[in-house]
Amino acid sequence: TEPLKIALAGLGTVGTGVVRLIETNADLIARRARRPVRITAVSARDRTKDRGVDLSPYAWVDDPAELAAREDVDVVVEMVGGSDGPALALARTALANGKSFVTANKAMIAHHGLELAKVAEDAGVALKFEAAVAGGIPVINGLIDGASANAVERVYGILNGTCNYILSTMEDTGADFGEVLAEAQRLGYAEADPTFDIEGIDAGHKLSILAAIAFGAKLDFGAVEAQGIAQIKAADIEQAHGLGYVIRLIGFSEVDRHDGMPRLFQRVRPYLVPLGHPLANVDGPTNAIVAEGNFVGRLLFQGAGAGDGPTASAVVADIIEVARGEMGPAFAMPVEELEPMAAAA
Ligand code: NDP
Ligand code: HSE
Repeated sequence: TEPLKIALAGLGTVGTGVVRLIETNADLIARRARRPVRITAVSARDRTKDRGVDLSPYAWVDDPAELAAREDVDVVVEMVGGSDGPALALARTALANGKSFVTANKAMIAHHGLELAKVAEDAGVALKFEAAVAGGIPVINGLIDGASANAVERVYGILNGTCNYILSTMEDTGADFGEVLAEAQRLGYAEADPTFDIEGIDAGHKLSILAAIAFGAKLDFGAVEAQGIAQIKAADIEQAHGLGYVIRLIGFSEVDRHDGMPRLFQRVRPYLVPLGHPLANVDGPTNAIVAEGNFVGRLLFQGAGAGDGPTASAVVADIIEVARGEMGPAFAMPVEELEPMAAAA
């Protein structure tokens, strides 16, 4: 059988995780994909950097944009990051050239997901981004396929591993905010610009994607009100605990039907979570998402929300789907018009 030929753009935490996973589980992947999955070309900024993986079997290109035009590439896998810039240019060109596109980039999908989905649909190829929301947790597939028979009215949860790691470590050890953030960066959980994590923007990106999938709503990151955790002190956490709560950064979205016209509420902020609630026991870089469907009831998706192995697991699951010819659609079919709702209303 013809192998599926893939190119990797970005060889940092996620990209090197994908190389390792594809090499380690090659036989298992070939069986599930019904054909071998072969890396043909790779790209990052620094050709000389030691990345702890052997890249010598693959063609190296300095400019990721070149991957979109190569004949030995069926699928481009983007793990560079950034809502615009090289990632977006690569996505547009690869899809327009008829190459399926797999990405871990929630910033780009939150800002440009609808445009890219249209380009993919017109070209008859796939756009997939399971890794963009909650790292290794298959929540997009779980909602778009597994819960597709339900009306979902509320989705909320812990969507940023870095913030959860910071809050739960401060709670356990009393350590200083800056110290724990530095550790999250060292462990590869944080974004290139960690203010996106600590100001709730990264969770907002993920919430907007999740809401679009869960409610069949129009992706609308601009309507997300985001507040982060930078202002939280160790004393706040201790006092909350004394009252029977933990502090968690939570993305919350629901359909509000109070005034006739259904409206979509999307907000990220620190919440007091009662001890005993399933989200109160979620520690470290773990993410957890609750979705409430009208027939299935309450679903809880929990697992590693950041890090090389878990994120690579979601990226490669998308690649396997493409290998099998499962092309999409990228977003759930819209079911009703939802007006954005200001969080303060
Ligand atoms: P890293 O910073 O570790 O890696 C980014 C890679 O992209 C590096 O290899 C870098 O090259 C390359 N790169 C950056 N800018 C350019 C450019 N202008 N041209 C060419 N290559 C470039 O990021 P992560 O692996 O952590 O994240 C990648 C993506 O995955 C992001 O979208 C992130 O949001 C997302 N993500 C990350 C998760 C995580 O846990 N880390 C989890 C889920 C999603 P070089 O190495 O040479 O500098
Ligand atoms: N910086 C992100 C986080 C990576 O900490 O959750 C996973 O998307």
